[in-house]
Amino acid sequence: MAEKIFIIGGGPGGYVTAIKAAQAGMDVTIAEKAAFGGTCLNRGCIPTKSLLHVTSFLTQNYSRMGISFDKMTYDLDKFRKWKDSSVRKAVLGVEMLLKKNGIKILREKAHVVSSGKVETETGVHKADRIVIASGSNVIIPGFIKDRDDVWTSDNALELSEIPTRLLIIGAGVIGVEIATIYSRLGSEVHLFDMLEKPGGADIDTEIANELEKSLKAMRIKLHLGKAIKAIKGNTIIVEGEEISGDRIMAAIGRCADIKGRHSEIEIDTNTKKIRTNKEYETTLSRVYAIGDVIDGPMLAHKASHDGVRLIDLLNGRAASSGEMTSVFYTSPEIASSGMTESQARDSFGDIKISVFPVSANPRANCTKELRGMVKLICTEKKLIGAHIMSEHASEMIWAFSYFIKNGTDIDDIKETVFPHPTFSESIGEAMLGLEGPMLHL
Ligand code: NAI
Repeated sequence: MAEKIFIIGGGPGGYVTAIKAAQAGMDVTIAEKAAFGGTCLNRGCIPTKSLLHVTSFLTQNYSRMGISFDKMTYDLDKFRKWKDSSVRKAVLGVEMLLKKNGIKILREKAHVVSSGKVETETGVHKADRIVIASGSNVIIPGFIKDRDDVWTSDNALELSEIPTRLLIIGAGVIGVEIATIYSRLGSEVHLFDMLEKPGGADIDTEIANELEKSLKAMRIKLHLGKAIKAIKGNTIIVEGEEISGDRIMAAIGRCADIKGRHSEIEIDTNTKKIRTNKEYETTLSRVYAIGDVIDGPMLAHKASHDGVRLIDLLNGRAASSGEMTSVFYTSPEIASSGMTESQARDSFGDIKISVFPVSANPRANCTKELRGMVKLICTEKKLIGAHIMSEHASEMIWAFSYFIKNGTDIDDIKETVFPHPTFSESIGEAMLGLEGPMLHL
């Protein structure tokens, strides 16, 4: 008889685990209390990328290339419908895949009762294995707890209004992506962060400096190195300075959704996430956890990767973890894999660094976006970090997940033939620069 697996949560972690488990011949049930696709499809990646795409046309000036408009206008209602249709298509796609794979769907809240039992609103379900993939929620800082009018990314993505002046607390990935959307829509955006640079704590410093320049080029006003501890009405008070806006938004991070957790499932007191062993098993036998609720970056693709690995491990296929990639969908995009320069120096001391500027790339030269760089970091022979700020960076970074994980020798990578003219040629140049002169610099 097929092994029964019950998955709690239908986001990119849960639904991918369910499909993978069904493909492995398991008897799968998945419970989702809201919409399938979770934060990523409904309130995160998909609506954000949809709005970043439509708004990208608004600020383009093509007059130097011979294209001019009398007047550029936009219809906010149609933007919203466009974004909603992207979300709807993605969610329906997930539901279709679950059904196609014969997965039992419960549209209910579920929680673990014991090692082999899950309770939902309509009953108790037995399973050989249980997977918790309940994701995360936006962190609401104490000083705005009782303020319904303060936005989170959920509200910002509804596109209910375009504030004349939008004040965003937190210049991490959500802060800068929402700032980009609203500044293109005409808001005067102010970004506040307690760090000295935008992009959050894990970004490479040189890339953060470039991000700062690109945000300033969009006329986004940065207030860095100052922790926000209080707001008064629509005014942010920071180190004696008061800045007023029409709307305040908080983007200071997310926290694991572990409400209703079984008491025998231990939590790491530092991360406030579920503790698991290397095989994703929690402290309650045969109960597993993946994605945002466990250690590691809170990324949709990380959650899906966890789910695929878990099912491989349960089915006796050894699966080592891949090297993570991350992307800021700013203009230009920023994508990274592996260590930052300072992490590499701390771990290895002596490292090699090569930086090729996008301004020297022939394909970039045919467009208007000359900002950015490819920065590669290696030990004597192995790549350990890659940071790409360029058009289409999100489409190029995957190769470094492979190179870094597999410890590929840079002599082997150097033989790669990059098509001309492409943005990816900057990667080839940066690789040359690890051991000698670059050709186009
Ligand atoms: P984040 O952790 O990336 O950035 C939060 C920022 O807020 C940090 O720079 C921090 O210094 C600042 N901050 C915190 N408290 C503050 C205060 N009181 N005053 C001033 N600054 C303060 O978190 P974010 O942007 O909310 O994103 C949450 C999660 O969602 C991240 O873990 C990210 O991985 C994920 N995500 C990923 C996306 C992508 O891959 N493109 C897009 C959106 C979210």
